[in-house]
Formats: sequence, C-alpha cells, structure tokens
Amino acid sequence: MNWKTPLFKIYWENDDIQSITNVIKRGSYWTTGPEIEQLENKTAKYIGKKHAVTFSSGTSALHAALLAHDITNGEVIVPSFTFISTANTVILAGARPVFTEIEDETYGLDSEDVKNKITKKTKAIIPVHIGGRICKEIKALREIADDHKLIMIEDAAESLGAHLNKKMAGNYGQTSIFSFCQNKIITSGEGGITLTDNKNVYNKLKLIRSHGRVEQENFFSTTKDLDYIQIGYNYRMSSLTAALVLSQMKKINKIIKMRKNKAQYYNQKLSKNNNIKIPTELKNSNHVYQMYTIQLKNKQTRDKIQQKLTREKILTKIYFNPIHLKTYYRQKHGYKKGDLPKTEKISGKVLTLPLYPTLKKTEIDHITKIINKMC
Ligand SMILES: Cc1ncc(COP(=O)(O)O)c(C=O)c1O
Repeated sequence: MNWKTPLFKIYWENDDIQSITNVIKRGSYWTTGPEIEQLENKTAKYIGKKHAVTFSSGTSALHAALLAHDITNGEVIVPSFTFISTANTVILAGARPVFTEIEDETYGLDSEDVKNKITKKTKAIIPVHIGGRICKEIKALREIADDHKLIMIEDAAESLGAHLNKKMAGNYGQTSIFSFCQNKIITSGEGGITLTDNKNVYNKLKLIRSHGRVEQENFFSTTKDLDYIQIGYNYRMSSLTAALVLSQMKKINKIIKMRKNKAQYYNQKLSKNNNIKIPTELKNSNHVYQMYTIQLKNKQTRDKIQQKLTREKILTKIYFNPIHLKTYYRQKHGYKKGDLPKTEKISGKVLTLPLYPTLKKTEIDHITKIINKMC
C-alpha cells in the first residue's frame, strides 16, 4: 500500500553516504575492516560496558548472547509483549521461553509474575525495553535475577539512548543487545550489537559470530591457518554497515531530540482526552520514543481508529500482539488464549502511531484530530 504517512522514515544526512562511500572506495575489507572495532569501542563507551561485539542483526546478537552464557537448555523468562525474536532466539539456543506478564505503564516485565514463573529450571530473564523507554521495574528485575543466581540479558533492541536514573538501557543486565534495523533510533538497515562486562562471554561472542574461529589475526590477511575450536555462525556485520552506524551515531542526540519533539506535540494534542492514555516518562529518565504508543479504552475503539487511519493512508501498528498466541507457540508449545490475561488485555488496547524525526506537525494535527473525534 502507498502510505501517505508511514509509521517511520529513516533520518539520514550526506555524511552517511560519505561514510559508506569511503569503505567502498577503499576496495578492501568490506568485512572485518577497522570500522567494526571502532563501532564496538564507541558503543561500549556510550553505554558504559567494557566490551561490545557487532552482529548482523539484533536477532543474531541475542542468539549469540544466550549461547555465550551457555543457556542451551532449561527455561528463560521473557515477555509475550515484544518482537518475536526475543522468544525465538531462546528456542534457537536450545532453551524454553516462559512467557510472563507485563505491567501497564512501560510494558516491561511484571516483577511479581517473574517471581511466580521462576522454577528450578530457570536460567535467565530477558527484560525488554519497549519502544525507547526503560522498563520501570528494571532495578527490581535485576535484583530478582541476582537473588536467584539467574543471568539477565537485556533486550534493549528498541531503546538505544534511553536512560533511567543516569543508567543507560543496556547497562542493567550482565549482557545486553541493540538492533540497528531500519525502524530503530539509528539504523543501517540491518545490524545489531551485544555488550557485556564479562571477558569470557566477550570471547565466546566473537567465536560464535565467526565460525568458532580463533581470530588472533584477521582471517582475510594472514597466511596462518587459524583454528576452529567450537561450532559457530557467520553472524558478522559488514564494514559498510558499521561505517553507516558510526556516522548515524554522530547524530544520535539530534535524532532523539527530534523524536522527543514530535512526541511532545502528540502529547499536547492528545493529553486532554481522558479516553486516551499517552506514554508517560518516568522520573529521572530519558524516553527516546522509538515508538509512540497510546492506549485506548477498549479493543473495539482501538480497532475502529486503526481502520479509519488506514483508510486515510496513515500506517499504524499494534506493537505488540502477544507472541504466545502466534500459531507456532500455540501449536508447538501449547499456549492458548487466557494464559496471560493482563498481556492480552493490554495488547487489545494499544496502538502505535507514526513517529519519525521529519514527521510534520500538520500530519500530527491530522492524526490526532481523527483520534480525538473517535473517542
Ligand atoms: C524487542 C526486540 N528484540 C529483538 C529485535 C530483533 O532485532 P533485529 O530485527 O535487528 O533482528 C527487535 C527488532 O525488531 C526488537 O524490537
């Protein structure tokens, strides 16, 4: 469909083109070039973690994080209100995702339900920071993980730049991941990164990323016969991609500011309507608005609004419909409607509206006028 207002548009400047062009013109090391390490160092510093390893996507970054922590069996606590790869990667690693309820403000894991879901088989907890906002119970979640000697892997795919009480998203778990897919805060089309303070995990991540190969030297520029000491993937990010993320990184503050501006304008237009719940900002936090998600009174109103906006060629999304109700999880893992009533209820009321740095005020005026009229 030809959307008049898409859900997102990528923000780019000429230096992004230049950055990739430089790598192309180099005519070598379009993979394993110096940009990889530059991006890893820059991101580690930005988040405040010791080590970073780039990946081909947020999904491969999360899969590798699980494998590097040896989470190849047992159970992992995950929300159902998230993108499918949060759960899929647990299965790919060999463990079982245990879907757990969320709270109703930031849509993060509900710490009480997390406690209920912990069993002798639990190995890890994966909290997800939805849409650019750190989940409000993240500190409690880390404490629960520590008390039960569980690993916390933070799925911060959507929340680069977010912080809470001066701590960045990605700095709450032992290990964390981000995505650079095209609808994220900064992007290279596809890409991901894993961060950790643990040297052992860091070394394993590098092996998993590149065939289980011990890369004491660059494979593409040595006569040495490098050794392969475990099984691994080709989950590498290309140097072209890393160059693009590096130049996008230079503008992250500007991009976040632009996104916040649009969100504030939405808030201004919607906050007076008691039938609409606008996204809140926690005290001492930075919500970077990877998404702008509102909550309506009920599913009927939400669906009607979405249908009307669709007729107006305005793209909205339901982020997220519960994963546990997708065919694969129902058929293969026995989940059914009613298993997570709180999550299902919230999913029935949310609607994610278009938001991107260059979104025009007139477009927000048009969208919010329709919504306000319908509820
Ligand atoms: C919460 C969450 N986790 C993981 C991912 C996976 O990232 P990618 O699409 O880069 O594989 C995404 C991206 O869409 C996401 O939103």
